[in-house]
Amino acid sequence: MSASLPVVITIDGPSGAGKGTLSQMLAAHTGYHLLDSGALYRLVALAALNSDADLNDEQQIAQIASTLDVVFQVDSHGTRILLAGLDVTAAIRQESVGMCASQIAAYPAVRSALLERQREFATLPGLIADGRDMGTTVFPKAQAKIFLTASAEARAERRYQQLIAKGESVDMGSLIKDIKERDERDSNRTVSPLRPAVDAVVIDSTSMTIDQVFVKMLAVIGRDL
Ligand code: DC
Repeated sequence: MSASLPVVITIDGPSGAGKGTLSQMLAAHTGYHLLDSGALYRLVALAALNSDADLNDEQQIAQIASTLDVVFQVDSHGTRILLAGLDVTAAIRQESVGMCASQIAAYPAVRSALLERQREFATLPGLIADGRDMGTTVFPKAQAKIFLTASAEARAERRYQQLIAKGESVDMGSLIKDIKERDERDSNRTVSPLRPAVDAVVIDSTSMTIDQVFVKMLAVIGRDL
């Protein structure tokens, strides 16, 4: 008798399309584990920024990626992320860290250093894997693949509302510029560029609410509300 394997559902797409929120909703609904792969790239970026590392030195950054001392502490309030024992849950969400993450994510050696670490998240009963290359590279045999996208303007507007709610002052024009710049870099890198897997279902959330997208995703993975 063969033991059952974990189910893997991949959610890929550009930043600001709603992947994070929807992946959390799907994980709560299915009882599956959650992999926020962007957090891993952000952690490498933060660790590099906090050290004397040269961001242009691929091997040095890959070394940081392969020795990353990270713990994801999951409880009823969400996930706390510890880097070398320090809580960096908020620090990795800064715009500057996101930009640096996008830069170091283009290094093939960094991506391969993080590959096995990501695959280890696939344990029973299953995994919701959120990222850019979950369906194409990390979990090519996933049972269901979703590519969630939205226009750059809609994504900038959502980010604007989040930052305003946090009391941060932001300029809409520079938000749109940053989003387009990051899309460009994530989509045009040579290794694991941001693009839908051939067998992914593409959902454009530009004019949809989170709840509407959630219902559509449940239909894709064959679950009831
Ligand atoms: O999803 P996010 O904004 O937290 O991701 C931060 C950066 O990490 C993003 O600009 C691209 C990169 N990333 C990646 O290259 N591959 C992934 N699977 C996840 C994120």
